[in-house]
Amino acid sequence: MAITVGIVESDTHCPYHCVEAVEIVTRVMADLKPDLYLHLGDLGHIAGLHKANRGRPTKRSQAPVIKDIESMAGYLDMRSAPKRKVWLLGNHDSYFSKWLWSNPEWMGDDMADLTKRLQTSRRGFEVYPVNMQPIKIGSLRFKHMSPTNMYHARKVCDESNESTLYGHVHDIQSFTSKKHDPHQRHISYCNGHLSYEHLMDYLDGRPTNWYLGFSVVYINEKTGRFNVLPVAIVPPNPGKRQSYFSAIFNGKEYTVKATKQYMSFWRARG
Ligand SMILES: [Fe+2]
Ligand SMILES: [Fe+2]
Repeated sequence: MAITVGIVESDTHCPYHCVEAVEIVTRVMADLKPDLYLHLGDLGHIAGLHKANRGRPTKRSQAPVIKDIESMAGYLDMRSAPKRKVWLLGNHDSYFSKWLWSNPEWMGDDMADLTKRLQTSRRGFEVYPVNMQPIKIGSLRFKHMSPTNMYHARKVCDESNESTLYGHVHDIQSFTSKKHDPHQRHISYCNGHLSYEHLMDYLDGRPTNWYLGFSVVYINEKTGRFNVLPVAIVPPNPGKRQSYFSAIFNGKEYTVKATKQYMSFWRARG
C-alpha cells in the first residue's frame, strides 16, 4: 500500500524566515524526497501589515515590498520538487493580499492579486484562502488559524471530531480527545514555525514560547490513516559557545551554522 510522504512547514514569514532552520528542512527534503509539500500559511510577512494596523500599512517605498514578494516567490521555488504542493494562506498572507487589492496602483501595475503576482499555478501550487480551510488529506485536516490561548491544541481538538495539523501559533503542541470509544478519538498538532522571532515587528521584544520546527507526515490516502512526526529545530545557545542550529530526524542529525547576524544579535542581548 503506497504511503504519501509529506513535509509540512508553516509561519516562515518571508523575508524574515530563519535561513538556517529552512536549510535544515531543505536537507531533510533532499533525503526524504516527499510526494507532498504543504505550507500551512504566513509564508510572507510584510512589515507593518498586521492586525494592529490592518489597512493602514506603515509607509514604505516600493522597492522593499517588491523584494519581500521576491522572497516569497523564491521560497516557493525552493519547494518545487514534490509532486503535490499546497499553500494555505495565513492571516499575514491575507493581510498582504487585501492590502494589495486596496492599493493596486502602489505596485505600479494591475497585478493586485497576490497569488497571480506569485504565479502560484505556474509554480504548481494549489492555494487555499484562509477562510476556506481546512483541507483534508486522508483523515488528517490541515489549516492555518487556531485559537492562540496557552492550550490551543486542546481547543482545536474540541472544535472538531477530526485530527488536525495547524500553524499560526508558532509553538509545538499536541492533544488527544477524550472519548469512551477509543475508535472515535482524534489528535491535534501545532506545527512550530520557521521565522526569526527577533525580527518580528509586532512582538516588540516580548518573550514567547515559539519553537522552530516542521512536521513529517505519512498518510495512507486509501484508508485515511496517518502519522505526524513533529521535528523540533534547536537553535544555538551563544552563551554556551554553540553556533549551530540542529534537528534530528530518522536517526540523522542535521546541523547548519548560524549566520553572523544571528549570533551577534543574541550575543548583544547577553
Ligand atoms: Fe505566523
Ligand atoms: Fe498566522
